[in-house]
Amino acid sequence: MAHFTKATSVKDWLDQRLAIVKVEKVMASEYWIPKNINFLWAMGMILAVTFSLLLVSGIFLLMYYQPNIDTAFYSVNYTIMREVDFGWLWRHVHGVAASVIFLIMYIHMFTGIYYGSYKKGREMIWLSGMLLFVTFSAEAFSGYMLPWGQMSYWAGMVITNLFAGGSLHADGLVEWIRGDYVPAQAFLSRFFMLHVILLPLAIMGLIGLHFAALRIPHVNNQDGEEIDFEAESKKYLAGDKAGSKVMRFGNDFMSKDMTIVGLYLVFFFYLVFYNYGFAMDPVNFDPADGLKTPAHIYPEWYFLWSYEILRPFSVDVGLIAFGFAQVIFFALPFLDRSPNAVAANRRGLFAIWFWVMLVNMIVLTAMGKLPPEGIYSTIGYVAALLFMAQWLVLPFITKFEKKV
Ligand code: HEM
Repeated sequence: MAHFTKATSVKDWLDQRLAIVKVEKVMASEYWIPKNINFLWAMGMILAVTFSLLLVSGIFLLMYYQPNIDTAFYSVNYTIMREVDFGWLWRHVHGVAASVIFLIMYIHMFTGIYYGSYKKGREMIWLSGMLLFVTFSAEAFSGYMLPWGQMSYWAGMVITNLFAGGSLHADGLVEWIRGDYVPAQAFLSRFFMLHVILLPLAIMGLIGLHFAALRIPHVNNQDGEEIDFEAESKKYLAGDKAGSKVMRFGNDFMSKDMTIVGLYLVFFFYLVFYNYGFAMDPVNFDPADGLKTPAHIYPEWYFLWSYEILRPFSVDVGLIAFGFAQVIFFALPFLDRSPNAVAANRRGLFAIWFWVMLVNMIVLTAMGKLPPEGIYSTIGYVAALLFMAQWLVLPFITKFEKKV
């Protein structure tokens, strides 16, 4: 049993029971962050803030949403949008945040790739980040089913059909996932469950893992410099703040982070109030109709690049290519064989690899939105092949990279 003395203050009382002084040191005042970082290192905090906005707005939407195929569409488009005071605001916050969080996630991922922040003991940060990405994708997809509009229904149909596995003919699997022959009540109920409880719980657990994975290796910095955190933090604590290469997480780094978060929130609420249309598909303002297939079915913008990798091939090859695209980013820390955790522009061939990957994924995204005809399908085909080829060459070009 620990030794308890008469507490001199509330803080002391709590400290004796919860070690709050030590926790505060580990989490904030003695959690050291390199000074040599730029605004791109604020993306993680922006993601955490955007996820919180999704949670809060989701809780308010849940008070009026009805997970029933006969009433879901009207509960969203009539009750929430027109009847409930400020219902439209919560819906726009939720819709805009769902879209923007993917943009920020892509920026955050590509920052990690550019600076090689998945190396030198940072592999778990990357792997937990990728798990977050995949779980967020499932969260976004399940949420998209809930308004039970035309695009909810038909995107649900197309995506669940993928589980038929081409010539494997795993047809029973598709019905098992849907709980019926076509998307219907069982389908809506289970995607509702996934969206409001199971996946958010998983995301919160994964964010915890991601943060824990950051604590020991510390975040990387712009020059990939191996900082002696022990020595630099001593210098800081001894009063030489300017001469030290590190700063405290709380409040030095947080105050910088929050400045960028503030600017982001101005942009975010500008979108919510004046430009929310991009986050809402017009086709989804028609109620689901299993007898009326929309002329052109496409997913939300953040899934378009992988959709385009599926589309130009025959069913079987397309499924393999699609599966490859979903998992290959997990392997990045192991396929990049160079020890250099420095900015890509100092890494020779890898710099070309990086920019080609980024531009090619933008091209795939653009082609994924267009109908698969003529020149578009040719460009999509070449871009999909290039995507796969890049992953195949990565170990070779990085193995022979010079140490910088
Ligand atoms: C909701 C999702 C996420 C949240 C809340 C989140 C949060 C954070 C935070 C707060 C940091 C430290 C500050 C920074 O570098 O921004 C960080 C770093 C990092 N994250 Fe994430 N992250 C998320 C998703 C991802 C994803 C999808 C990936 C990519 C696979 C990823 C990979 C990384 C990497 C590699 C670092 C280390 C950066 C460095 O060492 O410089 N994260 N994340």
